[in-house]
Amino acid sequence: MTTDTPAATATGGTTHAALAAWVDEVAALTTPDRVQWITGSPQEWTEVTDKLVAAGTFTRLNEQTHPNSFYAASDPTDVARVEDRTFICSVDEKDCGPTNNWMAPDEMKAIMTDLYRGCMTGRTMYVIPFVMGHLNAEKPMFGVEITDSEYVVASMRVMARCGSKVLDRIEELGESARYVPALHSLGAPLQPGEKDVAWPCNQTKYIVQFPEERTIWSYGSGYGGNALLGKKCYSLRIASAMARDEGWLAEHMLILKLISPEQQTYYVAAAFPSACGKTNLAMLEPTIPGWRVETLGDDIAWMRFGDDGRLYAVNPEFGLFGVAPGTNEKTNPNAIRTLAKGNSVYTNVALTDDGGVWWEGLENEPQHATSWKGEDWTPDSGELSSHPNSRYCTPIDQCPILADEYDDPRGVPISAILFGGRRKTTVPLVTEARDWVHGTFMGATLSSETTAAAVGQVGVVRRDPMAMLPFIGYNAGDYFGHWINVGKDADASKLPKIFYVNWFRRDEDGGFLWPGFGENSRVLKWVIERIEGKAAAVETPIGHVPTPESLDIDGLDMTPEQVEAALRVDPQEWRAEIPQIEEWFAKFGDALPTQLQVELDGLKARLGD
Ligand code: GDP
Ligand code: PGA
Ligand code: MN
Ligand code: MN
Repeated sequence: MTTDTPAATATGGTTHAALAAWVDEVAALTTPDRVQWITGSPQEWTEVTDKLVAAGTFTRLNEQTHPNSFYAASDPTDVARVEDRTFICSVDEKDCGPTNNWMAPDEMKAIMTDLYRGCMTGRTMYVIPFVMGHLNAEKPMFGVEITDSEYVVASMRVMARCGSKVLDRIEELGESARYVPALHSLGAPLQPGEKDVAWPCNQTKYIVQFPEERTIWSYGSGYGGNALLGKKCYSLRIASAMARDEGWLAEHMLILKLISPEQQTYYVAAAFPSACGKTNLAMLEPTIPGWRVETLGDDIAWMRFGDDGRLYAVNPEFGLFGVAPGTNEKTNPNAIRTLAKGNSVYTNVALTDDGGVWWEGLENEPQHATSWKGEDWTPDSGELSSHPNSRYCTPIDQCPILADEYDDPRGVPISAILFGGRRKTTVPLVTEARDWVHGTFMGATLSSETTAAAVGQVGVVRRDPMAMLPFIGYNAGDYFGHWINVGKDADASKLPKIFYVNWFRRDEDGGFLWPGFGENSRVLKWVIERIEGKAAAVETPIGHVPTPESLDIDGLDMTPEQVEAALRVDPQEWRAEIPQIEEWFAKFGDALPTQLQVELDGLKARLGD
């Protein structure tokens, strides 16, 4: 990776020899005009956001209503994660497994090195030292992202702990510091005199993880999950491979704290696929009297066993990257309050004429706005004002219900894990697993309708194991085995209890059977009462489901028939799932743990024919 281009001018640098050498090597290959090390200072935020405003990428929002906040509209082709362009380049193809795209590392590096050659010409190369989780964790999880995108710099500053403090710590640790090198380029070099576009990107995209080397290479996209490399690429794909090797779990889970009327505290983690309700549940405002929720995380949980044998979760992130449409005062008042404090970036929503933002589902629909496509929009233009995967990016410490424990690097002990997806039929509101292995089976067979969070068809039912299908950094069969092993090595009485939820079941008219959002607190209450041995359940072929009386529906506008329909386990519908589960499991061959086959056989036997 060398060229004879003269070195770019640099702001900042490092005494860490290996890191300095990597940065030099990347600069020599990508030939930026400038290199700038990100410090995390307030002046730097002003400089970067000013630059984004000047380039037309950002529009500064009304300072009164949206202080220090910005609007961005992406290229219409760069709006979501690109799963078909995402690769796990393990040395051995079988370590990638049947659910990921694979290419040999050398082959991928050759292709991408060609793409990277000269790709930062005319741009600034930013070096972002960051840490996922706490800087004062026992083993801080460092990363360094190189990017040529100011949008990525601004967003990373919100989503991860970044800058000089992190670099200082890496330098203190010297050669013993472990960090994930993460290289990102928009793939949009600027020739002298060439005018930039508002959202530079490239039609060729690669989102690549090298799990053995703990390295990330990303090219061609500026969108969150493809470009903010601390998030999905590091904290899920690379971290899941680390977790397999080291005996912990890196999961696509929110973390919440639940406080009962008796002032008992419980911590719950929940894995739902992208755009299936994690951010909303994490910031829940319970509708049942006396119960309170506080937030710890909305997307990622790293879980390790504590000395007391319990499983402790930390949120490695520093910001919230939420789906905008559907967010409003009623569905997610705490998100609205978080955003009201400003310091946020909105991407692909609508820009209102008074310098605010709007999206489908938000109150106060404007009579006119500029749509995410930059077109005039009115309530009767017959088009969406905002992309269904439009997002807000906002500091988590602005969340008014952030739990104090968020700042504790040891994390919180998890009492319950929920798995859930979007299913119109079949899957009841809540089901309790009999034990850890059965819960692992529920997770491994989790299914959900695809959403706009990834490019591709929306609404297609697919298996999304533990809501991790696009994020497992190795063979999913081995990942199931890892889950089984985590349970086997633990004290069963201290393991979290596992539940399967579905907020999205429909009635014959296509409406949601369950009101969802704040009312999901009723399900959380049942979960806690099950853990405490206080709530009744019926044993069904798929697990324990609430008796209609055991679910608190006091004050809920639902008929007993509707509640029954939400909880119903229809053997007919479940028998129809079996061939799909069999087909899913067949993908894994020998890598499928026998325990899961035993669970499937048991389910078949209980369902009869
Ligand atoms: P995440 O991507 O998993 O964090 O999901 P979000 O919490 O951002 O929600 C994604 C979409 O699902 C948004 O449009 C929400 O309004 C909607 N949603 C979230 N929770 C519920 C629920 O309980 N019921 C229904 N019907 N929709 C929900
Ligand atoms: P989400 O996060 O899970 O909140 O949608 C982004 C993603 O998974 O792409
Ligand atoms: Mn996610
Ligand atoms: Mn979310």
